[in-house]
Amino acid sequence: MDKYEAYEKYLDFEDDFVGRGRANGRKNPRPGNKTNKKPATERAELTDFSDDASVWVPKYAASLDPKHHERTWLIESLASFYQDNVILDVTRRVKGGKEANVYCCPAHPATGLELIAAKLYRPRTLRTLKNDAIYKSGRQLRGEDGKELKGRREKLALAQKTRFGQHLDMVWWIQNEFSVQQKLYEAGADVPRPIRHNGNTILMEYVGDEWLPAPALSDVALERDEARDVFERVITNIRIMLDNHLIHGDLSAFNILYWEEEVFIIDFPQVVDARKNPHAQFLLQRDIKRVCDYFARFKVPSDPSQIAYDLWIPYMGNE
Ligand SMILES: Nc1ncnc2c1ncn2[C@@H]1O[C@H](COP(=O)(O)OP(=O)(O)O)[C@@H](O)[C@H]1O
Ligand SMILES: [Mg+2]
Repeated sequence: MDKYEAYEKYLDFEDDFVGRGRANGRKNPRPGNKTNKKPATERAELTDFSDDASVWVPKYAASLDPKHHERTWLIESLASFYQDNVILDVTRRVKGGKEANVYCCPAHPATGLELIAAKLYRPRTLRTLKNDAIYKSGRQLRGEDGKELKGRREKLALAQKTRFGQHLDMVWWIQNEFSVQQKLYEAGADVPRPIRHNGNTILMEYVGDEWLPAPALSDVALERDEARDVFERVITNIRIMLDNHLIHGDLSAFNILYWEEEVFIIDFPQVVDARKNPHAQFLLQRDIKRVCDYFARFKVPSDPSQIAYDLWIPYMGNE
């Protein structure tokens, strides 16, 4: 089964899991999707994924019902990383969201890490807000190999949001998120070290320890002096991003982890290119405003418009 077929299966399986009958009751049934016509039970059958003795079952998956869609999805998404000696196991789910689930994985010693975070996108992610046109403006369409898409078929599929188009889109988002994180890591920004990615998963350094994942800044109360230092650090990171022509686009205290007095900026699917996106300046201002608002809670004074101006004007001047 290739990645695309697997993706199709996940979609069907998730339809059945999320709410029986939702697939049938959907207002706009997917055109030309033959599998929709089959009864739900038949569609939900995942014989290809059934786990026999030869299939790797990580600790966390073993705690789930064998028919649970998350178990199948987890094993299918992470097995290659296990086979390639990147992760040894999956011990728990750190966070489950509408877009992605993040899991904690003991790392193979060869990675030089103890723990790895696996961010697995849910198949339905493409329908969510981050896929908004504001982020897409000015982006180039790229295929699985990272090369620009020139083919009429691919462009049409994306425009018409067919399943194949959605698959291309997902591959693009993940590849983009990974390469942005890699670029920032290499540029010295405070981001978790990216390790590997595949069609729906990103592996990166886990922030936290085996007992506790790092909290987001939104869940942390800071002393005033500490808050001032952390604020400066976050603004420095925004500057490093801009020096690399990148604007986070969804920066807030929810996407900054705090661990042992260090910050780690995460969650890059909606990053935009400051040179190409017509909304770049607006997104930069919004990121800075949200950061300033958070630090104002701890009495850190700041002028978000001035900070944005002081970053943007020299940046534009250098172009
Ligand atoms: N590298 C990491 N180490 C520890 N926890 C992480 C890591 N990356 C993400 N998380 C946890 O998963 C949550 C969701 O990750 P995020 O990348 O923000 O995805 P999204 O918000 O799109 O669901 C974070 O708020 C954090 O709790
Ligand atoms: Mg997030």
